[in-house]
Amino acid sequence: MLSHDVVIVGSGLAGLRAALEVVGHLDVAVITKVYPSRSHSGAAQGGVAAAMANVDGDSTDAHIYDTVKGADFIGDQDAIEIMCNDAPHVIVDMERLGCPFSRTGENKIAQRAFGGHSFKRSCYSADRTGHALLHTLFEQSMKKGGKLQFYNEYYLMRLIVEENICRGVVAMDMKTGKLEVFHAKSVMFGTGGYGRAYKITSNAYANTGDGISAAYRAGVPLQDMEFVQFHPTGLYQHGLLLSEAARGEGGYILNGNNERFMANYAPSKLELAPRDIVSRSEQTEIIQGRGAGPKKDYVLLDLRHLGKEKILERLPQIYHIAKDFIGVDALEKPVPIQPTAHYSMGGIPADNDCQVVANERGDLVKGFFAAGECSCISVHGANRLGTNSLLEALVFGTRAGKKILEKTTEAKWAPVNESREISAARREIDQILHNKGTESLAAIREELQTTMTDKVGVYRGKDDMEAAHEKIRELQDRFRNVKVDNKKSVFNTNLTEALELGHMLEYSELIVAGAQTRQESRGAHARNDFPDRDDKEWMKHTMAFRTDDGGYELKYRPVRVTRFQPEERKY
Ligand code: FUM
Repeated sequence: MLSHDVVIVGSGLAGLRAALEVVGHLDVAVITKVYPSRSHSGAAQGGVAAAMANVDGDSTDAHIYDTVKGADFIGDQDAIEIMCNDAPHVIVDMERLGCPFSRTGENKIAQRAFGGHSFKRSCYSADRTGHALLHTLFEQSMKKGGKLQFYNEYYLMRLIVEENICRGVVAMDMKTGKLEVFHAKSVMFGTGGYGRAYKITSNAYANTGDGISAAYRAGVPLQDMEFVQFHPTGLYQHGLLLSEAARGEGGYILNGNNERFMANYAPSKLELAPRDIVSRSEQTEIIQGRGAGPKKDYVLLDLRHLGKEKILERLPQIYHIAKDFIGVDALEKPVPIQPTAHYSMGGIPADNDCQVVANERGDLVKGFFAAGECSCISVHGANRLGTNSLLEALVFGTRAGKKILEKTTEAKWAPVNESREISAARREIDQILHNKGTESLAAIREELQTTMTDKVGVYRGKDDMEAAHEKIRELQDRFRNVKVDNKKSVFNTNLTEALELGHMLEYSELIVAGAQTRQESRGAHARNDFPDRDDKEWMKHTMAFRTDDGGYELKYRPVRVTRFQPEERKY
């Protein structure tokens, strides 16, 4: 059994920022299924939001209000206040740690416009902001010294919670297949989102929601799973992110008739309306036959008027993505785009110090913390504003680290039954490797992802959701007989893909169940049969609990409103 004071699962921004806070004081392990520099935070492009003093008129109050409104009033406002108030400090902190932010002519940190923000507020490093931040944190955490050990290419198998005390995790060394128990006084998850449940997604292959699923299987509820964000500018058919920075820098969205149709949906903000609104507008244009291309199933991102210099200096990554993946030169032609599943607003419920919440009353799971996309704190409510996610990861990663340091220093070791934990993980693997089944893993995954994109996407209809729910149950059954050809231990990606699929099938049912239950439209959750927001009935978070028979039960938790009562959301 391996033992560390603190085990952090996930090496993205939230995990590394927390680690930086704790290293030098306690013995820390960071477990990641990839390599730290490959974590999905590195894929974030357009920026990190903060009301700095650089932009006339902006204030943290304006940032708070924009975020509350963007969240369609279901974000917890005390948490939003913390995030926006801390924002300028974390930017300065990251700059001092060495993050190479782009600069203005006066050598200040440059800021650009983003959807739903009423000022130019997004600090950026060209269109590779997440990459710059991630590498800065990785370098600094290694430089700091102290006891910090990275376990790269370890796959999380189980979270160990007994008597409401978190005691560690079980992980598999993917290089050898060996199962290890990591005993810890505190465990933090910064394991990312669950966008890979969808066929068209901007998410990395790694974003299969293993962390949220491990927490759920250990008895922790999952909150607001129905809120999945669709980013309006996913590369057509691939889903890859083309940063909203393109619109922040002045890019247009056109339909098949060459019209800037956002004027009909959000006349004051146009392309810089929040993502839920732009995605719905695009989908409406496509549904109503005004899409582009032979099948009229996409719209277009037009950057040509920005000119070569601006495109190559500020948007180099998206220029290359369009060119390399679909052969479109954005200097010459508009780029085909469609909404893509981008961000998971739901996840592991946690308080403002990232301590995981055990139930609808707000009791805590001792020794368990979550931050970043896997968590639901909930600063994004029903719809996240662009560039608030890197911010959330930095602010709450820091807060998690501080709280972990405080709590771990005073904590005692709670015992772990190593052989029982290893046996339970081994049983899950053996069921996959030796079940004599004939079901194709790739086919089940494809059917799941297509179902989620087609039936639980930008718009959600009653019949579609019912069909999706039924399909997921069928796929769960078929998964029990999934066939994995590779039976070996060494780097068996066939096995890890099957483990991931098991997670995706379990929580996808919760996305659908939450969406079916929430009989209103709010933020990214848009129902055809309930087109309006219903504040009387639905100003509450859903919480899904796993039942003993492997089913689920939904309960509810109130939203924390501090300064802003719900009002009509117009742009
Ligand atoms: O469009 C983007 O650059 C994405 C940013 C974000 O999701 O915050």
